[in-house]
Amino acid sequence: MRPERQIYLVGFMGSGKSTVGPPLALALGRPFHDLDRLVEAAGGNRITKIFERLGESGFRRLETERLRRIAAAEPSVIAVGGGAFHQEANRRLMKRTGVTVWLQVSLETARERALGDRDRPLARDPAAFRRLFEERLRIYGEADLHVPAEGKTPDQVRDDVIEALVRADIKPATSLRNDPPAT
Ligand code: S3P
Repeated sequence: MRPERQIYLVGFMGSGKSTVGPPLALALGRPFHDLDRLVEAAGGNRITKIFERLGESGFRRLETERLRRIAAAEPSVIAVGGGAFHQEANRRLMKRTGVTVWLQVSLETARERALGDRDRPLARDPAAFRRLFEERLRIYGEADLHVPAEGKTPDQVRDDVIEALVRADIKPATSLRNDPPAT
């Protein structure tokens, strides 16, 4: 992998992007960024409030704008909110500047973790949540790497992502966690 490339974690709400991101970043010796938190900082408010004030389209504009900035920053691991991958321009940007990794979980797991979460405005209605999950599967399938995350601990998912990066020859083995420091 070209060292300047970003690692984008994508996937549905509740797939574990924000949980797996920090240990993955630590293992790879990179900073971690959570796009939702960057959007909140830019919007000066929680995501639910941004949705209320600016609507979903206003939220998406902020999201794309923050994504552009972070894509151009130092190589990091970036957890990308579940809907960002669905904007074609975002998808193209992520593919051009890095590798996209889909953390795959079942609808049941996504439901358990995210449905009813007050901070997730698109996770309020069970039927809409299910529809969104089903509609988005095909698009997530366009991610460069697919990592099953169902029933695994965050550490297992972290290791599986690293293995997938190595297998795809995207992350050079020399920069992995357990390697001795370069002399
Ligand atoms: C969204 C997912 C959320 C957040 C916003 C919209 C979506 O991020 O960006 O609530 O459209 O799926 P997480 O995937 O981190 O929950």
